[in-house]
Amino acid sequence: MSVTLTFLGHAGFLVEDGGTKIAIDPFLTGNPVATMEASAVRCDAIVVTHGHADHFGDTVAIAKANDATVFGAFELCEYCSEMGVAKTEPMNPGGQVATDFGMVALTQAFHSSSYEGRYLGMPCGVVVRLGGVTIYHLGDTGLFSDLKLIGEIYQPDIAMIPIGDRFTMGPELAARAAQLVAPKVAIPVHYGTWPPIEQDAEAWQPEGVEVRVMGAGEQWDWGST
Ligand code: NI
Ligand code: MN
Repeated sequence: MSVTLTFLGHAGFLVEDGGTKIAIDPFLTGNPVATMEASAVRCDAIVVTHGHADHFGDTVAIAKANDATVFGAFELCEYCSEMGVAKTEPMNPGGQVATDFGMVALTQAFHSSSYEGRYLGMPCGVVVRLGGVTIYHLGDTGLFSDLKLIGEIYQPDIAMIPIGDRFTMGPELAARAAQLVAPKVAIPVHYGTWPPIEQDAEAWQPEGVEVRVMGAGEQWDWGST
């Protein structure tokens, strides 16, 4: 059971298990910290937390170029279909979809979700199970106590947690979130991309939680024990 994670910068990741490649929140065009062009992304599926441009990003272009399936909120998938994306898996928070690679679930996130003035459905966290590894990307969210319940239910190996403040939790609340979710490893995201969300990720040390700080473009082979 292992996966390779590539951090795309900001809150985006590529996750692959040797057979399947999944992009989560692939925001590359206009991302000041990105090290990869959207046209270079190869993937089978794209999982999107919400419609904001710093997450939805290059989803439509990458989906079309790869004939990839988009997993996301119902309205977000509807928009993708209108834009010519052939394959979507519309969902909503609380729902889970079994896939050939494992599963995708959407969870609550306390945030908003629109794109160019259009409502794109509920903002979500996403749980992806691939290669026997469970990844929980919290999306953009404030703190809420059901993070503990979500952690208990999905038992994530890896959790991506926003720490940038202003639009999401800042470091203090994100540390509480990490303790509630209790993943094996927490990866801080959604900081440092622009001045308003500047944070010192190396200083983010939630007690009792192992943290891995990833730089944009960095790859990490994660094997569960
Ligand atoms: Ni957002
Ligand atoms: Mn965001």
